Amino acid sequence: MRNTQRLDKVVSNFGYGTRKEIKAMVKNGSIKVDGQVVKDSGIHIDPNSSTIEINGEVLNYKEFIYLMLNKPQGVISATFDQRHKTVVELMPEEVFHYKLFPVGRLDIDTEGLLIMTNDGDLAHEVLSPKKHVRKKYYALINGEVIESDKKAFAEGITIDDGYKTMPALLDIIRSGITSEIELTIVEGKFHQVKRMFEAIGKEVRFLKRIEMGGVLLDESLKPGECRELTKEELETLRNSAGKGLFI
Ligand code: URA
Repeated sequence: MRNTQRLDKVVSNFGYGTRKEIKAMVKNGSIKVDGQVVKDSGIHIDPNSSTIEINGEVLNYKEFIYLMLNKPQGVISATFDQRHKTVVELMPEEVFHYKLFPVGRLDIDTEGLLIMTNDGDLAHEVLSPKKHVRKKYYALINGEVIESDKKAFAEGITIDDGYKTMPALLDIIRSGITSEIELTIVEGKFHQVKRMFEAIGKEVRFLKRIEMGGVLLDESLKPGECRELTKEELETLRNSAGKGLFI
């Protein structure tokens, strides 16, 4: 599909300055499109198929980008908030123009994997309740998590509003006064993990998402850091839609 946009808008989106500045660059012959020096900054081009050069440097245009963020605690999974810092504010300046948004939400006190993109179709696919994309969490629980909890989670837990959750996979790493677990779910109800534990009389003390749709949180990312998904990770995420717990 052809998607034409004004040249000055495309170049400006790359952070090369305002439209006025780009007009000046065009005037002094600094910009080429498909090998030809451009004379008018308002021409329409297809950034997906045209090669744009600025002072000999080729711009690598991407319509969509996909980042993994290690969300820190204290930050809101939203694009705007009056009181708290948002995940969008954690994005590097060079990707601001993509107008990224988070694929789903993590609570303010939850940390870990959050995918940021400007691809609404992918976000819709991954978040659709019908697609059962799996999410895996690591948690510290106040209370002793026991074998029978695994069975209860596998059968589905009735949470506070009477909703029975879909089967979830509970792994107990360490059981004690405080337990360490991993939980994989295929839904995204509000506060779901916390409410599932609440329903069995236990409390989530620390929560971190470590996987989404087969994409693992890169543990080398410190809280607040992000990086682009690799091609393979993006493919894995796309393919996870509809696969449920087992991919
Ligand atoms: N479940 C929760 O309770 N909180 C989150 O942030 C994510 C899943």
